Amino acid sequence: MEEKQKVTMDKIVNLCKNRGFIFPGSDIYGGMGNTWDYGPIGVELKNNIKRAWWKRFVQESPNTYGVDAAILMNPKVWDASGHTQNFSDPKMDCKSCKERFRADNLIEEHSHGNVSAEGMTNEQMEKYIADNKVKCPHCGNFNWTPIRQFKLMFETSRGTVDGEKDIVYLRPETCQGEYVNFLNVQRSMRAKVPFAIAQIGKSFRNEITPGNFIFRTIEFEQMELQMFCREENSFEAYENYKKQAQQFLLDLNICPEHLKFHDHEKLAFYAKAACDIFYLFPMGWNELNGIHHRSTHDLSRHQEFSGKSMAYLDPVTNEKFIPTVVEYSIGADRLVLAILCEAYDEETLEGGDTRVVMHFHPALAPFKVAILPLQKNLSEKAREVYALLSKQFMCEYDEAGSIGKRYRREDEIGTPYCVTVDFDSLEDDTVTVRDRDSMKQERVKIDDLTDYIAKRITF
Ligand code: GAP
Repeated sequence: MEEKQKVTMDKIVNLCKNRGFIFPGSDIYGGMGNTWDYGPIGVELKNNIKRAWWKRFVQESPNTYGVDAAILMNPKVWDASGHTQNFSDPKMDCKSCKERFRADNLIEEHSHGNVSAEGMTNEQMEKYIADNKVKCPHCGNFNWTPIRQFKLMFETSRGTVDGEKDIVYLRPETCQGEYVNFLNVQRSMRAKVPFAIAQIGKSFRNEITPGNFIFRTIEFEQMELQMFCREENSFEAYENYKKQAQQFLLDLNICPEHLKFHDHEKLAFYAKAACDIFYLFPMGWNELNGIHHRSTHDLSRHQEFSGKSMAYLDPVTNEKFIPTVVEYSIGADRLVLAILCEAYDEETLEGGDTRVVMHFHPALAPFKVAILPLQKNLSEKAREVYALLSKQFMCEYDEAGSIGKRYRREDEIGTPYCVTVDFDSLEDDTVTVRDRDSMKQERVKIDDLTDYIAKRITF
């Protein structure tokens, strides 16, 4: 039976637009395909996701070093990585409506993720599409052009003297910034193999097929980590990152039934192993992140193209060798989408009303606390509480509408705690704290609020 998320993409997209998570890019101009802008609530969610990743994989990992490399790199980097020659997608045009699609996506979406086009040649993909009469998702016709390869790297130019221009590329992945800084990080940090370099940053790909909201966009953020190790320890590192990558997702409250490992059927000629973690998105199972055993390929290629030795000298054994790389890579925006789908819930309340509630892990919630005066004439006291709490946490202040409606608004953006200031607060300096998930309420002293919230929102 076909497995499906209970939430639909339409519900997520509408909530995101109406509640300030994510808006269509360049909205007032009618948008621009596969671009999205994060709003005031969405930017907090995404920043919290990136912070959680950095905390887990850099701060709490003693042998991992963070970098923030330039987006524009020497074009030779992309010759060495193979992107200038090989980074393209197999595209087909619908001759009826003129929409363009990736052939591999057509197959995967038609089969609801049960058939992978990963190892297929263009001829095999054309045959599958013909045999299964895969129709155009836009107009429903079966009227395809043959497959053609489209380049995915965005080109821009760097003018030196007027009229003379050099082509440079917007990076299509962040990891090359980690490879080219291998020696810099190793020397400056006196790092010993095994060690890892991690970064979070923007990447760009000329994706022209429909992106399923923020699942596939032309500008996106990646959280990537390269572990440099000895060949003999590399499979242990690979298995270790598989476990850590999965645990990270589980710790963010993603349900285990919505995750599965997917081993690559066809490996690149240099790769020794590769797998993805798939998430059950509303449109079906699809890739959330990847873990790749890349052998010594990346550093060897950069050694060849730069002419600089990328060898590591083991200070104990005096052995010189090029380290093997194990890569762990996850898209921040794709994880935002998974977290949104996972958190979304519609609950029927006593009395028959429904509430939409986002059950985010409290560490990811855009606002940790909402401060709500029961009546407007309590605003002075409520603003004092806001001033106190906003020093530590992202807080919202809301005095508009009935308390019930204000709770509903906070539930929709996943605020884990609502603090209500009432007339008793003026007398005894206590407030009511309402828990988003259980909706239980508790009286807490204002002096204890910071600690009360801090210990409930850690990751
Ligand atoms: N350095 C390896 C690399 O870039 P990838 O599988 O192409 O591997 C890694 O990308 C991750 O980046 C994916 O698992 C996905 O989460 C994210 N990603 C890739 N392309 C994306 C796009 N167009 N939009 C959003 N996220 C994307």
